[in-house]
Amino acid sequence: MRQVPAPIVSRTQVMPGVYLIWVEAPDIAAEARPGQFVTVRCGEHLPLRRPLSIHRTDGRKLALLFAVVGQGTKWLSVRMVGESLDLLGPLGNGFEIRQGSQKLLLIAGGIGVAPLIALADEGVGNGLLVKFVIGAKTASKLYAPESGVWSLESGVWSLESGVSSLEAVELIRVTDDGSAGERGQATDFLPSLADWADQIFACGPLPMYRRMAEMRAWPGNKSVQVLLEQVMGCGVGACRGCAVVTNKGIKLVCEEGPVFELGEIVWDKSFKF
Ligand SMILES: Cc1cc2nc3c(=O)[nH]c(=O)nc-3n(C[C@H](O)[C@H](O)[C@H](O)COP(=O)(O)OP(=O)(O)OC[C@H]3O[C@@H](n4cnc5c(N)ncnc54)[C@H](O)[C@@H]3O)c2cc1C
Ligand code: FES
Repeated sequence: MRQVPAPIVSRTQVMPGVYLIWVEAPDIAAEARPGQFVTVRCGEHLPLRRPLSIHRTDGRKLALLFAVVGQGTKWLSVRMVGESLDLLGPLGNGFEIRQGSQKLLLIAGGIGVAPLIALADEGVGNGLLVKFVIGAKTASKLYAPESGVWSLESGVWSLESGVSSLEAVELIRVTDDGSAGERGQATDFLPSLADWADQIFACGPLPMYRRMAEMRAWPGNKSVQVLLEQVMGCGVGACRGCAVVTNKGIKLVCEEGPVFELGEIVWDKSFKF
């Protein structure tokens, strides 16, 4: 874990209220794994650093993809190329692709797409097959691969920026209102695609995890790794503000997560739904 000044090298608004920032941070980028996160100091007046997932890396640079929801992310969204961010990371455990896994199913709800793209990069980089279900409420909130970073050709992604190749990713787009892609929710695809997958990974809002925990009926009841975007205090194991109840006792999301097995979390004791 390192604390570094990270100069911003690009900043793009990829959809309303969602920004993509690439920074130069070789010490963190070289070590970071998909599912890990950094904490960002968001100006002089916010004492608590804000956690954001590693969205992508190229070995020297790393990308953050974030939605503006409050003061910290608002501050971050108006930083410009040439300014420097104060980053601490990489933090947390990250996703684990098990040896022998060939087929990965990724399920993203809303901004939950952010860490799963790093995982897709890694999967494809290792020659694995990746199906990626991306869900959002409506078309304007659906992460658009064609937004300048990705190009979309008949459901297959390829990356234009030269960071890595994602040709093997099969994309399934879903919106609640059917305004883009399939109508429904990303989790609707879990039962039918679970059989295909060797491993399943998900990132999204709490109601999505609750639905998944309640489903419990996909073929083989395969394990699902989920990334908890828990509200954090210190981000480094000191305040215990991020504790969740698991079937193995209390765990800290910042140190022992943010990735957990879906079936490990005692949802009703950990969160108010
Ligand atoms: C490990 C981890 C990785 C994350 N990765 C990303 C990411 O890649 N992209 C991204 O957009 N966001 C991500 N988040 C969520 C992000 O940290 C919060 O949105 C951010 O801290 C909000 O800061 P703020 O100052 O803008 O909002 P605040 O002023 O702190 O809060 C504004 C509103 O958002 C709610 N809120 C704050 N934090 C969270 C949270 N963690 N989850 C749900 N609601 C929250 C608050 O309750 C409040 O209602 C991640 C969180 C964690 C723990
Ligand atoms: S955020 Fe302080 S212990 Fe996890």
